[in-house]
Amino acid sequence: MHDTDTLIAQLPKCELHIHVEGSLEPELMFALARRNGIRLPYASVDAVRQAYRFRNLQDFLDIYYQGMSVLITEQDFYDLAWAYLERAHADNVRHVEMFFDPQGHTSRGIPFTTVLEGLTRAIGDAAEKFGVKASLIMCFLRHLDAADAGRTLDAALAFKDRIAGVGLDSSETGNPPGKFKHVFARARAAGFFLTAHAGEEGPPSYVWEALDVLGVARIDHGVRSMEDEPLVDRFARERIPLTVCPLSNVRLRVVKDLAHHPLRRMLDKGLVATVNSDDPAYFGGYVQANYRVSAQALRLERDEVAALVRNGITASLMPKSEKAALLAEVDRVLAACGS
Ligand code: ADE
Ligand code: ZN
Repeated sequence: MHDTDTLIAQLPKCELHIHVEGSLEPELMFALARRNGIRLPYASVDAVRQAYRFRNLQDFLDIYYQGMSVLITEQDFYDLAWAYLERAHADNVRHVEMFFDPQGHTSRGIPFTTVLEGLTRAIGDAAEKFGVKASLIMCFLRHLDAADAGRTLDAALAFKDRIAGVGLDSSETGNPPGKFKHVFARARAAGFFLTAHAGEEGPPSYVWEALDVLGVARIDHGVRSMEDEPLVDRFARERIPLTVCPLSNVRLRVVKDLAHHPLRRMLDKGLVATVNSDDPAYFGGYVQANYRVSAQALRLERDEVAALVRNGITASLMPKSEKAALLAEVDRVLAACGS
């Protein structure tokens, strides 16, 4: 095994940008479709994988929303989250901030509680069995209107103790963050952590808006921020974390290929860039694969890989003492690996 790959495997990692619905592997999709008597528009698992060729974010989203239609019962949501957490454990992930899209389910008549009960039960079991901790971040679908997001926030308020934060995802172009100003203000007042997808396909102005109008503490993706020097300076100065998803960016044609990915430039500029998988079942790799292919394509040194891992820990919502313990473990792994 390549030296860097060994290091990546041994370092204790956080994942801060994973849509649990995007971890639905075709095999589980078929199993759940059978269990729930749902017909899929694909003949086989191979045919599903063949369909995963995307020209842009919207191409992907159309297939992603169709895929999640097999999720009906609490057990389905449990099985989905459990499969991801098992996979995360195999990648030596210790802490996860898991996005979920309640409106992708409530719009199909699935109660909010069904979704939440299934996810939280899997999270509890994974903490017990694997020691992997996970927090939930509920995303609003930005292609829907602000009133729908507001109703989703209302539903979440009863479960404040089980949801750490709110985010914003789905079709970025034409849906600027400002559309959700009031609902984010309400979420802030309720004490939720705030984050938003911005600068994935959308322009840097959407990133400014997410920071200044929504007041988010973190930016999901944010790769297009690199086009705007004052914005880059602000990220560095204010140490605002970016949850970067390299394989996703390639598969959705946000970047030409991994060798052209701005991850290294982000580190060179002193940004708090982190590595994540986004929708691993659709983009061809979980978090460890994202580290590996990025390290290889961008020729990242051990120190750079370690910086990315440390950034993930620092940018997480873990308590200070747990961050310190994981950072100390990073140091021990590096020392043992002869760094
Ligand atoms: N929902 C799931 N994955 C997403 C992504 N990469 N961008 C926007 N919305 C998403
Ligand atoms: Zn995402």
